[in-house]
Amino acid sequence: MAQKLWDKGKATDAEIEKFTVGRDREMDVYLAKYDVLGSMAHITMLNSIDLIGDDELPVLLTELKKIYALADKGEFVIEEGVEDVHSQVELMLTRALGDLGKKIHSGRSRNDQVLLDMKLYTRDQLKDLAMDVKRLFDILISQSEQYKNILMPGYTHLQIAMPSSFGLWFGAYAESLADDLEVLLAAWKITNRNPLGSAAGYGSSFPLNRQMTTDLLGFDSMDYNVVYAQMGRGKMERTVAFAMASIAGTISKLAFDACMFTSQNFGFLKLPDECTTGSSIMPHKKNPDVFELTRAKCNKIQTLPQQIMMIINNLPSGYFRDLQIIKEIFIPAFEELRDCIKMTCHIMSEVKVKENILDDNKYDFIFSVEEVNRLAKEGMPFRDAYKKVGLDIEAGKFVPNKNIAHTHEGSIGNLCNDRISLLAENTMAGFSFGRVNEAVEKLLQ
Ligand code: ARG
Repeated sequence: MAQKLWDKGKATDAEIEKFTVGRDREMDVYLAKYDVLGSMAHITMLNSIDLIGDDELPVLLTELKKIYALADKGEFVIEEGVEDVHSQVELMLTRALGDLGKKIHSGRSRNDQVLLDMKLYTRDQLKDLAMDVKRLFDILISQSEQYKNILMPGYTHLQIAMPSSFGLWFGAYAESLADDLEVLLAAWKITNRNPLGSAAGYGSSFPLNRQMTTDLLGFDSMDYNVVYAQMGRGKMERTVAFAMASIAGTISKLAFDACMFTSQNFGFLKLPDECTTGSSIMPHKKNPDVFELTRAKCNKIQTLPQQIMMIINNLPSGYFRDLQIIKEIFIPAFEELRDCIKMTCHIMSEVKVKENILDDNKYDFIFSVEEVNRLAKEGMPFRDAYKKVGLDIEAGKFVPNKNIAHTHEGSIGNLCNDRISLLAENTMAGFSFGRVNEAVEKLLQ
């Protein structure tokens, strides 16, 4: 029979137990470090309101730090028959310290405990994610600068349209990531608020000092209303998932472009052989599988907000066990997305571009608008110029002038990469990573 925090001497049906615990013993391992951190802040606060003695606090903290170190090394195990991470930590404490271990749960419920664990876990993940996104951003900007003078066709409806450039193409995805970072920052702000003290969702008759745990854990502020704090379970995950989906959407689109542009029928991009995969039957094949897999994985990640939304959609306020299921789709998504970003970083720094693409006369009509604009600048009304060039094209008389000059902001000749970089830098500076690190380090001292 499993050991349970809520055990009152009556056995639970084994099948029921297996079903309700579900994948928690696997998922909660990811939360172990954070569960311990949360407990350290909680008991420090309990000591300040005399619910834990001055002699007891250091003993408990020392033991908790040992458990933290174990979790940090990846050696934290949720034992057979133990329900979740919260029960495991308490079990380890009581094994080591006897009755003292049982004192730490005053003024707390597993409901606010798991809320807190998820926020602390997500905070760490968001930090790594933001850094990864910024790295990809930097690579794309530097490629955009390197190839800013190399033209390529621009398409609408996948029909050749107007001159574009590799400077524009790489830079566009960088700017897209700058916006994604902005969404990520909003998700960070919502994540970095303290739910601890909401207990089961209605607070506690102990005079908890919630500001103290907020400061100890480096949160920007708290989720004040205890009912709202509990309502944040799932809402925080959904908001973060939206930000992840935003990044995934950028990478997925990039992957599609890259697949298409490496095809022989386009031939604009060339991957080094080491970045391609072969075929078991066709000896000539060098396939862009990496882009295909990042596209599929990122498309999958774009379903994450919807999946979470469906789980929380019709729930009234208050805790429900439904919320447990969010963990198993939310937690693994970080690693998957970060893997995709890392691969994209790798391959986008290796990719080579083809020069002189537009010399091929199949792209001649791409310069039609340049000619219309030239005539209009000379004084011909735009509509007449448009008609003249159109008729020249129909009559086979159109001669393209391939010396183009685009000068306005964000165009081929004026990419504004410095300003796009500034946007990204400013957003990155908005994440309160520093205060979080400082607080956590202090707590673990
Ligand atoms: N495993 C649970 C979850 O993730 C922990 C909270 C359990 N609380 C409860 N009231 N049964 O939601």
